[in-house]
Amino acid sequence: MHHAGSLVIRSETAGTEDYLAIHSVNREAFGRPDEANLVDSLRTEGVVLASLVAELEDCDELEKSIVGHILFSRMYIETATNSVPAVALAPIAVLPKHQRQGIGGELIRHGLNVLKLRGEQIAIVLGHPDYYPRFGFSSAKAESLESPFPPKSFMAFELDPGALDGLCGKVRYPAAFGLGR
Ligand SMILES: CC(C)(COP(=O)(O)OP(=O)(O)OC[C@H]1O[C@@H](n2cnc3c(N)ncnc32)[C@H](O)[C@@H]1OP(=O)(O)O)[C@@H](O)C(=O)NCCC(=O)NCCS
Repeated sequence: MHHAGSLVIRSETAGTEDYLAIHSVNREAFGRPDEANLVDSLRTEGVVLASLVAELEDCDELEKSIVGHILFSRMYIETATNSVPAVALAPIAVLPKHQRQGIGGELIRHGLNVLKLRGEQIAIVLGHPDYYPRFGFSSAKAESLESPFPPKSFMAFELDPGALDGLCGKVRYPAAFGLGR
């Protein structure tokens, strides 16, 4: 498939137009409503740090459409004495017919950079062990973090190098993830 137009990554705009488009991108990419509903719940919970869309502009039709989405939310690492803020990357979705064109990668790189510039220190993802390391995530970095997930798929990235040094604790996700406390 050729790239008919240009790709723009931007923050979601408050309101039904973007919210509905984002909902359907997630619904289609995952083939089920769970992640689309998770996005809506995270907004309601008020824990969204960044929600970015990838918009493709079609040269022929002069139309823009949202083909990808990524969301980052506030989570914490609970140490023995402290609650350390971190960023959860989830979900990320690209419409099936636009996958494997680098759009997911653009969303991840752009998002991580925005968060780093804002002073966020730690990002965490549960995902494919072959995909996320290329963006800097590592399961070794997440080894001292207690989570309910398989260690290979549970990865961390230091937006601020060294941020995870000596840090050990249990991860606490937003309630919308339904993981308990
Ligand atoms: C995961 C996803 C967001 C990647 O978006 P993308 O735009 O296709 O990603 P990119 O083009 O930047 O990168 C492509 C790489 O992603 C990986 N990848 C993409 N789709 C994949 C799939 N269905 N299964 C396994 N790996 C996949 C591959 O490693 C691929 O690299 P390659 O082309 O060198 O083999 C997209 O495939 C998607 O929406 N999948 C369904 C939803 C999902 O599983 N989301 C992730 C869990 S939160």
